[in-house]
Amino acid sequence: MNKLGKKLSISISIAVICIITFSVLLNKYFLPKYYLYKMKGNIEHVTEALGKMDKKEFLNAVPEFERKYHVTIVYEGTKEDINDFNEALREKLYRKQVTLNKFWVTPETLKKVENGQKVNKLYDQGKLKSSFLTSYINKDHMFVLVGLSIAHFNDAAKVINTLYIYVLAIAVVIILLLVWLLTKKMTDPLKKLKEVSEEISRLKFKKVNVRTNDEIEELAESINIMSDKLKQAHEDLLTKNENLKTFMADINHELKTPLSVIQIYAQGLKDGLDDGTYIDTILKQTSNISLLIEDLLNYSRIEKAVFTYERFQLLELFRECLSKYDLECKKKQIHVTVSNKVKGEVWVEADKNKFEMVFNNLISNAIKYTQNQKIDISFSESDDKVLFTIQNGADIDGQKIEKIWEPFYVIEASRNKNISGTGLGLAIVKSILERHHLKFGVKHSEGNILFYIYFNRVP
Ligand SMILES: Nc1ncnc2c1ncn2[C@@H]1O[C@H](COP(=O)(O)OP(=O)(O)OP(=O)(O)O)[C@@H](O)[C@H]1O
Ligand SMILES: [Mg+2]
Repeated sequence: MNKLGKKLSISISIAVICIITFSVLLNKYFLPKYYLYKMKGNIEHVTEALGKMDKKEFLNAVPEFERKYHVTIVYEGTKEDINDFNEALREKLYRKQVTLNKFWVTPETLKKVENGQKVNKLYDQGKLKSSFLTSYINKDHMFVLVGLSIAHFNDAAKVINTLYIYVLAIAVVIILLLVWLLTKKMTDPLKKLKEVSEEISRLKFKKVNVRTNDEIEELAESINIMSDKLKQAHEDLLTKNENLKTFMADINHELKTPLSVIQIYAQGLKDGLDDGTYIDTILKQTSNISLLIEDLLNYSRIEKAVFTYERFQLLELFRECLSKYDLECKKKQIHVTVSNKVKGEVWVEADKNKFEMVFNNLISNAIKYTQNQKIDISFSESDDKVLFTIQNGADIDGQKIEKIWEPFYVIEASRNKNISGTGLGLAIVKSILERHHLKFGVKHSEGNILFYIYFNRVP
């Protein structure tokens, strides 16, 4: 038997043994005395009631009392000769089917009763294994006997106690059997849970199927939920780890490229190979490095920054941002349209500076990368949210479109044209929007790229 089974069977067996031992002791020592006390109480009650009655009432009450209290009542006028008197009483008892081995009213008793005293006697009937409990009273010069035959309880108790021992033995066997069955039913699913927990500790996120309809099933459910969550967290951690590795490799690469260019051009300068452009190239590369470092700092700041939320008008902020690019758009001859289908003012609660960064990045990207000299911006209502979209012509591979949110990812075409930056702008946008719990995304179709954000309105 398993540990739980042993513990359970020992404790239940001890409880049963204690209860039966207690019953045995009770039967042996307490019950006989209690039985006698109760019987005496009955007789006492009858004699007291009879004592208060007149003769007529008494004669009528005798059969009723005999029936109700299972007592025998006989009465006899006093006689000169004590032997005759006892004989007469015996005869009357005999007529009431009470045959006694030992019964004798002594002259002293008789005298006491004649003087109005109540006398109680207990006659042991020897081999009959019973006693005759009597109470004598005097009623209108008649000697009244109220008697009750009581079994020797000790013998009955002995029989009951022997039976108890058998019951105890059978009970213990049944308990062991039941406990074995019960613990098997309990420990089998527990074993399963143990196995799954061990698997989980080895980072194998398994699930367990337990149908016991009790707390064990609830525990299994919790373990399954835990397993799912741990699996998710583990996968997230692995992806983050992977992302970090790529990120570090990318930084390395992004820094190395301009540095090696600087190195080559500086060497060229030293060797007197300068055709008048070397210094400009070195300056451009150093400015690239400082831009990259600034972007990196911005990115890491956004990841850690504590956002300060305030209530402001979204469209007002957007117009402010857009107005800064008026001149650049004019210069590049880019046509910008803004359509606003939202009724009333749009109030939001967010970090205003960070939202400004989002708009700046999206607008500057659209200006930088548009291939049709057009940018279409719109605000519209979508359920209880405000949908913002910004679209421009872009001849790119739509399949890898989701990658543009990754740090340092720049589309080959824009890199080739030397117009792309460090590739951190959209990673910053993503981080800000995620931390504001907003739904956003990018779509590409028919030579157009479209970024969208669902803003939450506040009253
Ligand atoms: N509106 C757009 N149209 C076409 N391509 C875009 C657009 N926005 C982003 N991209 C592509 O996604 C890449 C990543 O954009 P992101 O803003 O993250 O970086 P970046 O503009 O290259 O550099 P940074 O913003 O850090 O100066 C860009 O290099 C570009 O190839
Ligand atoms: Mg950008």
